[in-house]
Amino acid sequence: MSTVTFDVEAVRARYSALRQPLAFFDGPGGTQVPDEVIDAVSRYYRESNANVSGSYETSRRTEALVTQARLTAGEFLGAGPDEVIFGANMTTLAFALTRTAGREWRKGDEIIVTKLDHDANVSPWLELAHDRELEVRFVDINDDTTLDLADLERQLTDRTRVVAFPVASNAVGTLSDVRRIVELAHDAGALAWADAVHYGPHGPIDVGDWGVDVLICSPYKFFGPHLGVAFGRTELLESWRPYKVRPAADTPLGHRFETGTLAHELLAGFVAAVEYIESISWESIQTHERTLGERLLAGLPDNVTLYGLPTMEGRVATFAFNVDGVPTREAATRLGHAGYAVWQGNYYAVEVMKRLGLEDGGGAVRAGIVHYNTADEVDGLLAAISALSG
Ligand SMILES: Cc1ncc(COP(=O)(O)O)c(C=O)c1O
Repeated sequence: MSTVTFDVEAVRARYSALRQPLAFFDGPGGTQVPDEVIDAVSRYYRESNANVSGSYETSRRTEALVTQARLTAGEFLGAGPDEVIFGANMTTLAFALTRTAGREWRKGDEIIVTKLDHDANVSPWLELAHDRELEVRFVDINDDTTLDLADLERQLTDRTRVVAFPVASNAVGTLSDVRRIVELAHDAGALAWADAVHYGPHGPIDVGDWGVDVLICSPYKFFGPHLGVAFGRTELLESWRPYKVRPAADTPLGHRFETGTLAHELLAGFVAAVEYIESISWESIQTHERTLGERLLAGLPDNVTLYGLPTMEGRVATFAFNVDGVPTREAATRLGHAGYAVWQGNYYAVEVMKRLGLEDGGGAVRAGIVHYNTADEVDGLLAAISALSG
């Protein structure tokens, strides 16, 4: 039996942002940030603001911070600190690293992406394929929105260079069978390239255990600042030729793939965000999210069509739905006026929406639960949804 205690009100007290009369179900678009993260960012500006490599105190403090941020990211991802690459956000890192990975690939080489992906794990590959005459294939999803792994097996060939996939869908919340995808990719001699942006706030990442070669996530989705963090396996990073300016240092390894001056103040916030998560524990977070997710699923009114898995098995607590007779945008707008921050549209999950036949109808409403949400908020959202078609 779990011994974890979780006091959601104590957690919420750590967020000034949660003291407004708005229930934040918009975590998939970016979570709120606890005061300790905000304080770490401003403290950096007050006490340590400088560039690296200067022979004076604030520059040395900044260097120590960057080193700490690599260690923290390494621990957060289950990677070595040298395998960490910081960037502006996931999309920017994805465009940079796909280009780097593909430098040696040859015309006709193949890339596999999935219909469950956010477009930031698709378009960088399409653009690379356009420039280098490569071929991109899409793995289908089953009707329940799980990835069709039989289709993945069929699409793998001896020309496949990479299998890019999401750890969790930012649209319908479905989790991928990461280890199985990695196994299939590696058996075919391809890289396993994971987008963990949506999974980030929901559970622990362990690149070593999962066996992925590259993984990218975004701290602003897990209670931190607007930043991107990538992992690249050591042997891979050693083999890649970086796009870098000549005077930039070659160590640590991951730094070769970072361009220009890092957002030092945001690295300070990132370290504080990871410490915040550790202070709560993934076990507490997952138990609370599951309880709230089950509550939402059990209480969905009859006037709602849910897209994706109907229980909390195999998914995170991100729910896409439409309300009978109410256009998607109107539903989201009315929920917003009622004090519920939800999203609408395709949330850049273009292929998922096409596969669900929703691309012409404005997509779906999305409500995402994270650990700072409460049972009262879920009940209030359900009541507000019920009222929509009344
Ligand atoms: C699953 C997923 N991948 C990638 C992205 C893009 O992330 P970023 O905004 O850091 O570029 C998002 C953003 O919503 C996402 O949800």
